[in-house]
Amino acid sequence: MSLAYDASLKKFSNVFHLSKLETSKGTNYIPGGFSRRTFAYGPHAIFAQRGEAQYLHTIEGVRLLDLNNNFSTNVLGHNHPAIMAAIQEALPNGFSFGNPIDAELDLARLLCERIASIEQIKFFCSASEACLGAVRIARGYTGKQKIAKFEGGYHGFTDDLAISAHPDPNDSPGPDQDPRPLPDSQGIPSYKSEHVVILVQNDFETCERILRANAGEISCVLIELQAGAGGIVELDQQFVTQLRVLTKELGILLIVDETVTLRAAYGGLQGVYQVTPDLTVLGKIIGGGLPIGAVGGSREVFRVVEENRVMMSGTHHGHPLACTAGIACMQALDETAIQRLNSMAARIRSELTSWADQQGYPLTLIGGFSVMGYALTKAAGQRITTHRDYWNKVDDDSMGIYALEMAARGYFPVHRGQIGLTLPMTDDDVTGYIQTSQEVISLIYGKG
Ligand SMILES: Cc1ncc(COP(=O)(O)O)c(C=O)c1O
Repeated sequence: MSLAYDASLKKFSNVFHLSKLETSKGTNYIPGGFSRRTFAYGPHAIFAQRGEAQYLHTIEGVRLLDLNNNFSTNVLGHNHPAIMAAIQEALPNGFSFGNPIDAELDLARLLCERIASIEQIKFFCSASEACLGAVRIARGYTGKQKIAKFEGGYHGFTDDLAISAHPDPNDSPGPDQDPRPLPDSQGIPSYKSEHVVILVQNDFETCERILRANAGEISCVLIELQAGAGGIVELDQQFVTQLRVLTKELGILLIVDETVTLRAAYGGLQGVYQVTPDLTVLGKIIGGGLPIGAVGGSREVFRVVEENRVMMSGTHHGHPLACTAGIACMQALDETAIQRLNSMAARIRSELTSWADQQGYPLTLIGGFSVMGYALTKAAGQRITTHRDYWNKVDDDSMGIYALEMAARGYFPVHRGQIGLTLPMTDDDVTGYIQTSQEVISLIYGKG
């Protein structure tokens, strides 16, 4: 390897020297220096000054192509004119009522019309809250207590669900076909793990065995059709179809978390997989950049909420500005926009994959829509199909160097191996990303 992590980190910290300074000042007031710890690139973050469509301007005056876009939230880029206009029009009317407003109803109708499995919807302030809400509905509806979720499946940071999203491979995680539930954080009571059953991505036989053995206690299976924050893993069509059939047979609700994947298609990734969940979790893009989360589902399942048997209440649920911004965002994210986003993703995937194969470089691209994963593996030709592949196959050092070097060259991916595309990105932006990736990967593997 011709690039060393320490040298890349030094270069990165030189380019983003003011951000390093601000992080250090921030530690006086905020643990770690800033709130969103997932934005830590090495020891510090990149401080933003302003957004401009597909770009982020940093406090150093560096312009970055924003491939993070707040972990996929800003699908239209920064400051989209339609979202800005909608917020500006709504602002003089006031922005905190609690009383219902038309915007909430309009966003609800839009999402119900768009996503085939959703008849009714309930808004929250974040997708973490919405995931917890979905689980409470499932428990209320089925009368069962346990949750089944996947190893590497992230569904927010709450005590109930921050279990085995990022399990530590050194913390006795159990055999590959019998993973143990492990809390992702200190401070999560151990009894929370006892209520969680852990499944294995793309391994139906294992999932079936575990679900059948615990069916009498499991209220729901929580799943992302393309796992994201715990490491991007694309699920096989057949695996998803089989899981839907099995959960129905066992009286277990299927909750599909589309917080990230909704942007994959007009009706969400569930439309592509032709799977009908009992409940769907939404977040990120449906607030147009403002804080939001939602649970949608069938009228039948929502009966427990309608009849107040399952309680959910929040001061800012259905917030006027988030709903207003969300409507503008979702209206702009039409079929044509989604096609454009996905075609940029397809180009990146095919050009980088064929280049890496030709060169014999160990790069693999994961996922087929505008939020995709990349991994630099320990050997060429390795594929990522389960969470544990990240432990066994990915070269963490090279991944770290790639992210630092890309940022220092003006491209800002999620450092754990994710890029998200935005609508204003041009063909030249995509070309620049592909060529810069090739330059950095060639340097990492010594042929640059
Ligand atoms: C799939 C998924 N579900 C839930 C969440 C939690 O969302 P929030 O950060 O809005 O609480 C995230 C956040 O990244 C996510 O990716």
